[in-house]
Amino acid sequence: MNIAIIGSGYVGLVTGVCLAEIGHKVTCVDNNAEKIKLLKKLKSPIYEPGLEFLLKSNVRKKRLSFLTSVTQASKKADVIFIAVGTPSRKDGDADLTYVEKAACEIAEGMDSYKVIVEKSTVPAQTGKRIERAINLTLSKRNKNKKTKRIDFDVASNPEFLREGSAITDFMNPDRIVIGVQSKRAEKMLRDVYKPLKARLIVTDMNSAEIIKHASNSFLATKISFINAVSQICDRVGANVLEVAEGMGFDKRIGKEFLSSGIGYGGSCFPKDVDAFVHLSQKSGYDFDLLKEVRNVNENQKKSFVKMIEESLWIVKNKTIGVLGLSFKSNTDDMRNAPSLDIIRALQKEGAKIKAYDPQAMPKAKEVLKSVKFVKDAYEVAKGADCLLLLTEWEEFKKLNFRKIHQLMNHALIFDGRNFYDKKQLEKLGFEYFGIGTASV
Ligand code: UGA
Repeated sequence: MNIAIIGSGYVGLVTGVCLAEIGHKVTCVDNNAEKIKLLKKLKSPIYEPGLEFLLKSNVRKKRLSFLTSVTQASKKADVIFIAVGTPSRKDGDADLTYVEKAACEIAEGMDSYKVIVEKSTVPAQTGKRIERAINLTLSKRNKNKKTKRIDFDVASNPEFLREGSAITDFMNPDRIVIGVQSKRAEKMLRDVYKPLKARLIVTDMNSAEIIKHASNSFLATKISFINAVSQICDRVGANVLEVAEGMGFDKRIGKEFLSSGIGYGGSCFPKDVDAFVHLSQKSGYDFDLLKEVRNVNENQKKSFVKMIEESLWIVKNKTIGVLGLSFKSNTDDMRNAPSLDIIRALQKEGAKIKAYDPQAMPKAKEVLKSVKFVKDAYEVAKGADCLLLLTEWEEFKKLNFRKIHQLMNHALIFDGRNFYDKKQLEKLGFEYFGIGTASV
């Protein structure tokens, strides 16, 4: 099939590359000419394991190409995915400016039946609005040029891939959700995903849109729940790691997303929880539960900083070494990374920050001021009064902690992801602080 993807961010680019890999002819579009130039040189603008390899091989097989013009790309496509950004407005609502713009530009170039699929995370009823925007553009066009009526369908197909494991997630989905209004659109989307042999769930458009927001909000709730439990564990002398394990073996609860730490970040959970709270409020329902999920998440960072302040006593002029900056491992994404709030709070107290991240330093340099970025974890440790583990990169597991101990001024570790074995580090002479593990 001929497919156009509008927006070459995380979701758009991964979707485009993977759809090409399963045999479709795909054009990825972005209005950022620099990004398109880079992609044409077979370079990925983002760090995502496996992405650049598939990008290169599919361009060589002539199944993948790149353009800056939405209208041009849409013209030759049967199915057009809208995967543009939907940032948060100040009031928490999703800003759909780019979605509307994409819809209008698609309509400008339409000369045959198309299925226009919203892939960006959007509030319920956005599909209907896209349909209206396209209809308005088409009638304006018809009035001017007196062209014949063109049929189209709008559908919703939310994406559930995670950064850091995006390719594997896309190729092996737990389910594919498609919200459609016609059998014709359903058939086209079934054909698009046929090679994946995945479970397909067909719903109406509003339900598909809600599935996405509800899924992300539920996962965020799970994280905040275990984080709230971790607070109790510290207070009553229990170990949150054992509690999570004991809970997770219940199939109805499940083991995943029960890792306590410094809270969730990234470009999705914070924004989507805000948007779902906003949508609920607009529809006349106060989603207090989700507001509390947000509060718990913010408090995790604050209580982590408080723990550091209490242990260091005087923070001013202390050198704090930071291992990991990205919002989670295997990505260079710094959007809403918990490290940002934690570092800024400590800087406010007068701390000197030294940091290292295997991938995120170029992006971190754009958003963090007065941080000394160094070349590896050992440089971070040199002369540091304490170490903070803020992102669970695998390479931080393999560090030589005897050497780290020698390099540090004071051997204190604050483990924001419960990543290390407390007992092992204590044996080496470290003072270790985790989250919800005070009793270990
Ligand atoms: C999330 C969802 O998991 C995807 O299904 C969804 O497609 C995506 O948002 C999106 O809407 O685009 P992502 O933001 O890439 O994916 O990352 P996650 O792996 O879900 O992690 C989100 C945050 O939660 C990270 O900061 C992570 O460190 C944190 N987290 C995750 C925890 O603190 N504890 C956990 O147990 C799991």
